[in-house]
Amino acid sequence: MDELLRVENIFKTYPKKKEKVKALENVNFQVKKGELVGLLGPNGAGKTTMVKIICGLVAPDSGKVEVAGYNPWRERSRALRNLSAVLEGNRNIYWPLTVRENLNFFAALKGEKPSRVRGRIDDLITALNLEDKVNVTARSLSRGMQQKLALAVALVVDVPVLILDEPTLGLDVESALEIREMLKNVVREENKTVLLTTHDMRLVRAVCPRVIIINEGKIVTDDRVDNLLRLFEIKSYRLHLGSELTPQQVIEVQEVENTVISNGSGSGIFIDINLENMENLYRVLDILRKNNAPIESIERKEIDLEEVFLEIVGRRGLNGKPVSSERSV
Ligand SMILES: Nc1ncnc2c1ncn2[C@@H]1O[C@H](COP(=O)(O)OP(=O)(O)OP(=O)(O)O)[C@@H](O)[C@H]1O
Ligand SMILES: [Mg+2]
Repeated sequence: MDELLRVENIFKTYPKKKEKVKALENVNFQVKKGELVGLLGPNGAGKTTMVKIICGLVAPDSGKVEVAGYNPWRERSRALRNLSAVLEGNRNIYWPLTVRENLNFFAALKGEKPSRVRGRIDDLITALNLEDKVNVTARSLSRGMQQKLALAVALVVDVPVLILDEPTLGLDVESALEIREMLKNVVREENKTVLLTTHDMRLVRAVCPRVIIINEGKIVTDDRVDNLLRLFEIKSYRLHLGSELTPQQVIEVQEVENTVISNGSGSGIFIDINLENMENLYRVLDILRKNNAPIESIERKEIDLEEVFLEIVGRRGLNGKPVSSERSV
């Protein structure tokens, strides 16, 4: 079986006084073995609800989820045997136990012999830089360290599917990097299937070839990150001029579509041109040539994933319409 995670026609509402809150509306996606997929969306989009449904913690109103072919609701223990999860703000660790005791305990709980997991536990402790804390109780760790320990616990037994809800939330730069490297490793070396929610676009760029974006409970995009970047790559140029424009030039430049004039901090002005076609750039250059306005530089502006995300979730005019480079969502 190729798809280790199947989510089909999921609807979920939460009761709220007299009305209902629609948390998920007809969500469908699949994740193949060895894939690492980012589940993105603004606050309240439904990510954590989706994660909890996959983990069998929340029942959907309708629809179906399968983890390695098992329904986490009806075939709970089989589904959970194939899945590890770290949930938002709910750390799956025992406060009175030390770091090493936690790892031993959870390995034993999943039926592993201590001798078989000793090496793995040591590797996790080293990778997450917890060596100095092995004998410290979970209760006495900092919040970020507790989060790292929770991830280590989720990885202590080798299960095929890993679900992470905001794994780098609130971590310092170094810890976030450790988690990023660890995620790359578990996919590369253990061929794990990972679904992770995050607001951290650098993490997404580093580890997720594919993203699913949900907005107000609906999937608006399910695509490869490089496709999305290409799709939104508006050819945009920025001209930096060393002197002011004449009033006539300002009027003429403003008449060129998709052109914005702004003052540079200190010296000169900027003209940003979003090019639907190259003609706009040539028109602006012709206007500038009239009084030999000195062009200091011409730069191509790159779009980044954060901007793409904002476009897709409708903060910048697409009104949350589905976006895809190929598959329909
Ligand atoms: N237990 C609950 N009871 C009632 N409403 C809930 C409950 N959990 C979530 N919701 C509502 O469901 C919607 C989706 O919430 P969810 O926590 O899934 O969003 P999220 O995408 O994880 O957001 P965030 O990025 O802030 O973590 C929100 O409108 C939220 O208020
Ligand atoms: Mg959440």
